[in-house]
Amino acid sequence: MKPKISVIGAGNVGASLAQFLVLKELGDVYLFDVVDGVPEGKALDIAEGNPHWGVDSEVRGFTTIDETAYKNMENSDVIIVTAGLARKPGMSRDDLLEKNVQIISSVARNVKKYSPNSNIVIVSNPADTMAYAFQKVSGISPSKIIGLGGSLDSSRFRTFLSMELGVSVEDINAFVIGGHGDDMVPFIRYSSVSGIPISNLLSKEKIDEIVKRTRFGGGEIVNYLKTGSAYYAPGASITAMVESIIRDKKRVIPCAAYIDEKLSKHYDAKGLFIGVPIKIGKHCVEEIYKIDFTAEERELWMKTVKSVSENASKVDQFLAKGN
Ligand code: LAC
Repeated sequence: MKPKISVIGAGNVGASLAQFLVLKELGDVYLFDVVDGVPEGKALDIAEGNPHWGVDSEVRGFTTIDETAYKNMENSDVIIVTAGLARKPGMSRDDLLEKNVQIISSVARNVKKYSPNSNIVIVSNPADTMAYAFQKVSGISPSKIIGLGGSLDSSRFRTFLSMELGVSVEDINAFVIGGHGDDMVPFIRYSSVSGIPISNLLSKEKIDEIVKRTRFGGGEIVNYLKTGSAYYAPGASITAMVESIIRDKKRVIPCAAYIDEKLSKHYDAKGLFIGVPIKIGKHCVEEIYKIDFTAEERELWMKTVKSVSENASKVDQFLAKGN
């Protein structure tokens, strides 16, 4: 039996992701959306391309106006939640919070009902906060839930470094931790080109410029598109996370993960989902790595923790009102 992958939300991110999952033959892909006919249409369209790729993945779509359609996600190996609003120019990811918590809560209740043992990848923005909300509402073990953030932000960071240095993206090792927001932390000291620290290769001014572009990388795309946010690089970044789960690759990718009691001493972010380097395998989060901070790095880290923590409090208040 092939792995079963359910994608909730058949917008640009969900549909691109579905296509990439099929191209990589990661499993059968089930697409869900509340807009009548859209998941069925996009799924069929993707399936009709399969003969060219030589892929036999089943691709099916389900409209969830009637929520019982979620039954079709039963026993999914991975469920990726992309449903929700995307940004328009001038909006930050945090502006989406209230509306998206509502959407995520309803998805979380259905996941709990129909497929409570799945691994979960949260993409809807702000993704770390939505992972937090999803966990609260579903009660699913936090170690089965990760949120998109660092995987995408690091991909942008590596791309910009590669453009600047004129070297292959493959040889650039760089990562971004913290919240998937404007104060994310591109981690310069651990970024290298085949082991050569980037600070040996680029001036401080150039690195600062690239860090800034990375932080606002999502906004740069929103400003070009005007009607929505990025989806190709997000789709690729989610595919890497899903592949590591399905194939038990144990890749180390920064993602929003749950900071439990034990880790809270180190990360000072108890009970939050926030971007840290994690090992991803068939059980989802298999290890969370501790990284050392200099005083300056800790200051940047605490700033992003504060933003993520404020958003988590907003979720708590929202859920306390009975939403
Ligand atoms: C971005 C959105 C997906 O960073 O958060 O483009």
